[in-house]
Amino acid sequence: MAEPSEIDYDTMIPNNVDLAHDRRVLRALERWHPGYIDWWKRMGPEGFGDTPVYLRTAISVGAEGWAKFGYVKMPDYRWGILLAPREEGRVIPFGAHKGEPVWQEVPGEHRALLRRLIVVQGDTEPASVEQQRRLGKTAPSLYDMRNLFQVNVEEARHLWAMVYLLQKYFGRDGREEAEALLRRQSGAEDSPRILGAFNQETPDWLSFFMFTFFTDRDGKMQLESLAQSGFDPLSRTCRFMLTEEAHHMFVGESGISRIIERTCQAMAGAGIDDPSDVEKIRGLGVIDLPAIQRQVNLHYALSLDLFGSEISTNAANAFSAGIKGRYRETRIEDDHRLVDDTYPVMKLVDGAFKTVAESALPALNARLRDAYVVDCRKGVGRWNKVIGASGVDFRITLPHLAFNRAIGAFKGVSATPAGDLIDAGEWMRRRDQWLPTGDDAAFIGSLTIPEVEPGAYAGWIAPPRHGINNMPGDFEYVRLARP
Ligand SMILES: [Fe+2]
Ligand SMILES: [Fe+2]
Repeated sequence: MAEPSEIDYDTMIPNNVDLAHDRRVLRALERWHPGYIDWWKRMGPEGFGDTPVYLRTAISVGAEGWAKFGYVKMPDYRWGILLAPREEGRVIPFGAHKGEPVWQEVPGEHRALLRRLIVVQGDTEPASVEQQRRLGKTAPSLYDMRNLFQVNVEEARHLWAMVYLLQKYFGRDGREEAEALLRRQSGAEDSPRILGAFNQETPDWLSFFMFTFFTDRDGKMQLESLAQSGFDPLSRTCRFMLTEEAHHMFVGESGISRIIERTCQAMAGAGIDDPSDVEKIRGLGVIDLPAIQRQVNLHYALSLDLFGSEISTNAANAFSAGIKGRYRETRIEDDHRLVDDTYPVMKLVDGAFKTVAESALPALNARLRDAYVVDCRKGVGRWNKVIGASGVDFRITLPHLAFNRAIGAFKGVSATPAGDLIDAGEWMRRRDQWLPTGDDAAFIGSLTIPEVEPGAYAGWIAPPRHGINNMPGDFEYVRLARP
C-alpha cells in the first residue's frame, strides 16, 4: 500500500504536487478558491449544503487503498490536486516526437493546442454538476443519492485538476481560462458550456444513469487518450482521474441494469410477456423497456457527437504533436506515427453507407469513437443478459451511427436507428418511436418521488447487489435532517 503521506493535507488544498513549495501556484489556486466555493454553493447539489454524506476522499494515488470513506458535508469536501506517480524514463509514445523523453513543461509550439484541450476537458466537469444539481431531491434511495453526490464532488475535483494545469503551466491566459470555467454555465443562453451534450438537461434519474453510462464514458475515452500525452503533467493528471471515472461508469451501468431488472421482475410477477404492452407495464409503476431504448438512442447519439468530426485536422495535429494519443496507445502494435496508414471510416457515399479507407491521422476522432462504441456495446450486452435471464423477449440495441446526429458526416441525415435512410418528413413522423417523448418524461417524472428511508428503494429500481464500501443494506448513506 502506498504511503498516505504522499498527499499533503496540511495546505488548504490537499495535493501531491508539493504546492507548499510552489508559492506562485498555491497563491493562484487560493485566489481561485472563493469563486469556486461560490460556484459550488450556487450550482452544486441544491438543498444539501449542510447534509453529511458518506463519501470517499482520495488519500493516496497508489493502486490500492487510494480512498477513505467517511461523512462529509459537501462544501467541506477536500478537493485536491492529485497526479498519478511519475514514471521514471517515460518517453513520448506516439507522433513525430515518439521515443523522446516526455515534456515536463509545455512545448512552446503546441501551447495553444494543449491549452484548448485542457479547457474543453475542464469545461465538461463543472457542467455535469450543474446538469445534475436538482436530482438529489428525487433520489430513489439514500444509496443512489450518495452515488450522485460522489460523482458530483469528483467531477468538481476534475475541474480542480484541469485548473491546476492551467494555473501552473499557462501563466496569465491560464488564470483567465480558470476564471472562465466558473463563468460559463450549462444551458445558459449567453455563456453556455462548450460542448452540446453538456448543455442538455438531466431531468430525471433515468437520464442521470444514461448520462453516466454514455457521456461519462466519452469522458473516459478522452481521458484515456490524454493519459497517453507526451506532456507528462497532463498524462499523470488524467491517469488519476481515470481511477475515479471507473465509479461513474459503474453508477450508470448498474443503475440502468437495476431498472431493467425491476421492470422484468414486475412483468413476470404480473404475467406480462409482451414488452410493448406499455400501459399495463406502466400501471405496475416500472419503466417499460421501449422507453429505456428511446433514452439509449438519445444519449448514445448525443455522446457520439462529442467525438467531433470523423475527419479532423486538429485530431491529426494533436497526435503528430505528441499531445493526444489513441485509446490505450501503448497497447497498440504499429509504428505509432501513422503517417502512411489508413483507417476505415463509414461514410454516406451516393446515398448508401460505405466504409472508406481514410488517411489514419485525420481519422483519429473516428477511431476513438469506434473504441467507444465497442466499450458501450459491452455494457449493453450485460443489460441484455439481465433481460434474457428474466425470459422477457426484448433486446436493447445501440442505434446506427447515422441516427439523430448533429455533428460530423451524418449531421442532418434522416436515418432510422436500424440505419435505413428515409425522407425527413417520415423521420419526423416516426420520431416518437425512437426518441423520448413528452409522455415518457411525464411518466418517469411521476415515478421519481424520493425514497429516503435507509435500505428502502423506489419501486422502479432494484436494490444493488452490494453496499458502497461493503456497508450493510440499511446503511444511512446520507444523514438527512429528520423532522
Ligand atoms: Fe470527470
Ligand atoms: Fe465522470
